[in-house]
Amino acid sequence: MVTRRLLDRLWAEGAAGRSWCRVRRAVRPAAPERRGEPAPEQRAVPPPAGAEPSDSLEAIAAEAAACTRCRLGALRTHAVPGEGARFPRIVFVGEAPGEDEDRQGRPFVGRAGALLTRMIAAMGFSREQVFIANVLKCRPPGNRSPEPDEIAACKDYLRRQLALLAPEVIVPLGAHAARWMLGDTVTISRVRGRVHVYGAAKVVPTFHPSYLLRKPEEKGKAWEDLQTAMRLLGLR
Ligand code: URA
Repeated sequence: MVTRRLLDRLWAEGAAGRSWCRVRRAVRPAAPERRGEPAPEQRAVPPPAGAEPSDSLEAIAAEAAACTRCRLGALRTHAVPGEGARFPRIVFVGEAPGEDEDRQGRPFVGRAGALLTRMIAAMGFSREQVFIANVLKCRPPGNRSPEPDEIAACKDYLRRQLALLAPEVIVPLGAHAARWMLGDTVTISRVRGRVHVYGAAKVVPTFHPSYLLRKPEEKGKAWEDLQTAMRLLGLR
């Protein structure tokens, strides 16, 4: 049982390496490979239902890099298609790249990304074992919220990625990702705390890491959601 104090230390910004390791050991589930099962990224995965046989993550990334479907294409430094394991058991979906992500072409590499990386580690995964994507592949100016027409223009990229990745669990981070998956009218506080379905995947919505940085008192609820995801993966 993870106490609140341990959890706070685990997700504390700039936590010293030593205390971080100690806490992580305390919460780390029995990893599949330690139970004699293949590591998550080594599973033999059947062909994903719904993916075009000729489609690939590389093709989607190349299309996003050249995309002019909405106004954001003219503003980007780099498109941020997403990154991670080719056959992840779990996919995290954020809202849109921010300034750091636009500069580097990688998802969740800023402050919110550092917190997401710690959340993923608390579940017993590395970033390389999961997949991290966004609803939008290009940065909205000034980090404003995505506009409905931008979400519609970008929709097919994430849909194709999820079909190829075929995860067991998807974790939408925040309202925009939850709406993308569960319908335009949902709010994150109404959908989190329950398990939903997207195709063959279970969906466990939780708060966006940026929100958790502003409202650290909500981290306990987010940890409950991540534990639900771990239970669905048989890791608890
Ligand atoms: N916030 C997001 O939603 N996505 C990122 O990639 C970074 C910050």
